[in-house]
Amino acid sequence: MELDLAILNLNSIVTPVSSGPVRGRGMTRIECIKESNIGIMNGKIVYIGPEIPTAEKYIDGRGLIAIPGFIDCHTHIPFTGDRSREFLMRLEGRSYMDIMKAGGGIRSTSEAVRRTPATALMAESFRFLDSMLSLGVTTVEGKSGYGLEREGELKQLRVLEALGEIHPIDVFSTFLGAHALPEEYSSRDEYLSSMIEIFDEVRKLTDTIDIFCEDGVFNVDQSRRYMLAAIESGFRIRIHADELSSSGGGLLAVELGAVSADHLISADDITIQALAKSDTIATLLPGTSFFLNESFARGRELIDRGAIVAIASDFNPGSCNIYNPFIVMFLAVTRCGLKVEEAITAYTANAAAVLGVEDRKGLIREGYDADLVLLRAGDYPEVVYNFSRDIVSNVIKNGNIVA
Ligand code: NIG
Ligand code: FE
Repeated sequence: MELDLAILNLNSIVTPVSSGPVRGRGMTRIECIKESNIGIMNGKIVYIGPEIPTAEKYIDGRGLIAIPGFIDCHTHIPFTGDRSREFLMRLEGRSYMDIMKAGGGIRSTSEAVRRTPATALMAESFRFLDSMLSLGVTTVEGKSGYGLEREGELKQLRVLEALGEIHPIDVFSTFLGAHALPEEYSSRDEYLSSMIEIFDEVRKLTDTIDIFCEDGVFNVDQSRRYMLAAIESGFRIRIHADELSSSGGGLLAVELGAVSADHLISADDITIQALAKSDTIATLLPGTSFFLNESFARGRELIDRGAIVAIASDFNPGSCNIYNPFIVMFLAVTRCGLKVEEAITAYTANAAAVLGVEDRKGLIREGYDADLVLLRAGDYPEVVYNFSRDIVSNVIKNGNIVA
């Protein structure tokens, strides 16, 4: 049988052994299949092994390794507007939270997103997705959270849906209406109630709800009430937790059985232990620590204690202007203490589990989606070691050569 595409004579195929979620030290278990070939048909991996498949198209894999396409399970696409002045303010000593309390931060992007038509938001996001794809990112999650009212929030979710239809990248969306208090409201409870009122409309566009649980944004009690309403309405839940202070978000995520607790820069010992024993995926976003010049999440401890750890970019205009997975992996390894093997698992198999697609993404395995990155590398440590070099040779998405 003639296949659609065959990749021949790869130095090695590097993949996590198990599909996500992979827990604790199990995350080091990656497989390196030397001198191998991959056969692809109808967007799926159908063959891995020593034989040379007959195919319509071939890629010469000599000098290359194949890894699963990166899955960026936490970004804030779509957004627009300019926050570079806030960057300058931080360089002069103002903190992210100071700027937010003074009406900048998320609210400033919200003003820009509210007045930008969906078509323009789409065009801007499309270009980001193009750049991410060329870096080997084949699946992206994006969030609302810059509308902060019904229209703007639903507009962002519709933009994400449309992007998924027109861009080769698979796009997943999350409703983050509870991202900040908009200026029209003085009561956080009233604002959250207004977001709960649109859950039925949100349900048509996404199955996942997130909240920014943080001192000065939404506290634990407010977050609990909101998330219980989300669970009641049948949503999967995720929480921006313990980002800038130890605010109780990580513990709340465990208590409510959230899919993920994201950030965890300031997670305390009790939170780390609770996460380690739970099925909630600790999603580390070390690009944010780097960009805001904050400390880094305690990735090593989380893994040693048995947590399921994913990593992602958090790409957004305020706290992390980074979407490059190689930089994020480098930071996860050098600052959060992950091993290279763990960082690979965290950005593939475990990120797939955050999005609920671990049965078809995050591994190079027969039957899985043919989402692959071919890198100019002799062996897998170079994925991190050569993080600032352009080592991407080809990107295969759904079996198509897209970069
Ligand atoms: O994950 N923490 C909340 N949300 C984003 C930042 C969004 C923004 O500053 O625009 C984050 O860091
Ligand atoms: Fe975020």
